[in-house]
Amino acid sequence: MIEKNQTDKLIVFDTTLRDGEQSAGASLTAQDKFRIASQLQKLNVDIIEAGFAASSPGDFAAVRKIALEIEGPTIATLARAVPSDIDSAIDCLKGAPKPRIHTFLSVSDIHLLHQMKKDRESIMSMAVDAVKRARDSVQDVEFSPMDASRSDPDYLYMMLEKAIDAGATTVNIPDTVGYTNPKEFGDLISGVFKNVTNINRAIVSVHCHNDLGMAVANSLSAIENGARQIEGCINGLGERAGNAALEEVIMAVKTRQDHYGVETDINTPEIGPSSRLISNIFGFPIQFNKAITGQNAFRHSSGIHQDAFLKERTTFEIMHPEEVGWKGDAIVLSKLSGRAGLKSRLEHLGFKLSDDELLDVFNNFKNLADQKREITDKDLESLMSEFHRELDTTENFKVIDLDVICGNKRDPIANITLELPSGKTVKSSKTGTGPVDAVCNTIDDLTKMDVNLTEYSVSSVTEGIDALGEVTIRIEKDGTIYTGQGSDTDIILASAKAYVNAINRYLIIKSVN
Ligand code: KIV
Ligand code: ZN
Repeated sequence: MIEKNQTDKLIVFDTTLRDGEQSAGASLTAQDKFRIASQLQKLNVDIIEAGFAASSPGDFAAVRKIALEIEGPTIATLARAVPSDIDSAIDCLKGAPKPRIHTFLSVSDIHLLHQMKKDRESIMSMAVDAVKRARDSVQDVEFSPMDASRSDPDYLYMMLEKAIDAGATTVNIPDTVGYTNPKEFGDLISGVFKNVTNINRAIVSVHCHNDLGMAVANSLSAIENGARQIEGCINGLGERAGNAALEEVIMAVKTRQDHYGVETDINTPEIGPSSRLISNIFGFPIQFNKAITGQNAFRHSSGIHQDAFLKERTTFEIMHPEEVGWKGDAIVLSKLSGRAGLKSRLEHLGFKLSDDELLDVFNNFKNLADQKREITDKDLESLMSEFHRELDTTENFKVIDLDVICGNKRDPIANITLELPSGKTVKSSKTGTGPVDAVCNTIDDLTKMDVNLTEYSVSSVTEGIDALGEVTIRIEKDGTIYTGQGSDTDIILASAKAYVNAINRYLIIKSVN
């Protein structure tokens, strides 16, 4: 256990771009990944796991760009413990200022028997060879024995010891299937410190999955027992039920520093913007009552609470909302606002635009302000997401005009004008079971793409009847899911933009893989 008053640095390893991208229904373009990495840089995470270089040429290129251009954090890529993956990781990170190779291999008997079909001895030598091969080219090597929490502890300790001898600088203990609990996991971490004789030569990290809803609690228990690197994803994204929500671990150790005795270098006011950007790009909404970033997280509803809160904030608030970049619906701009006002507000939100870009965004802002009296920071973030979506897909399909007629006495019909990638415009009109179906049928007719819509959802950016509607659509094409989004005060137009955006993203991702 940590001594009271002793403060250690806790290293924050963000894997939103790797494990987070493994969330079912997520598909990121290289531009999405770069935009998220730039935000993680502002958040000041220590390590960004940008992807899995050997998994596809598109991911290799995306990780490489991030590794070369994002200054500050160490950039990691994942690699299986096989020579071809390690070599691809080395190539991918060549020339990067702060590269890390993260290699992993299963360690539990259940994985060895059914997945790897290899014995313990061969697995041990694969692990050692992979770490050595990586360490020959890169100074910073992390080794993860996958499914560690279900493995034989003695075999795990031996593997960690050999990995450290082979050159691993960080050893990560994954609870790959979210099986453990805080007491048991804390004991395992304590066992690692007691039984791995060279453990003082490596940082001990943990990587917890959330299948039983205990990922954050397990991570915190590991910190109590000496782990000094924490892995997770913003918004708790990740494989199956996700990983530990990084913002929750970060704020737990900050708010209860008296208990955990560790500090991070996280720029916590960037938590809110990071959470919203990632939710937006992934197309995964944040649940209302989500700790730290949910829209109810700092709202007091009961009269008794409100009364006490107004007398003394700390009666019902353990963190300052501003500390995590939480924004209410404060009105910041209106249609009377000029370009300078918009520019300054966008800069305050972290968006730096060229004069030409500002002009485009200002036009979109004026259109929005004509329909919506009061423009909030959340509206501006949504406007910027829409702007970036258009910027990323300038050479693909674009909705030019849309006109939909519907009602209870007729079949809905959509008339749409679309710009094709060639620049030519085409028109069509189709009916459907509802207005959104009519829109999708018309777009299918114009794009000649054979896609299946698998998911449709709409949410509002702020409150009120004139709120911006954000539509998320997932389509399936050739067995893969692609996500598209669109926002507008008119949700049918937002739906058309989201559907076209999903098709465009399919085209972009396909073109690099
Ligand atoms: O969950 C897991 O075990 C992983 C490893 C690759 C660290 O994601
Ligand atoms: Zn994982």
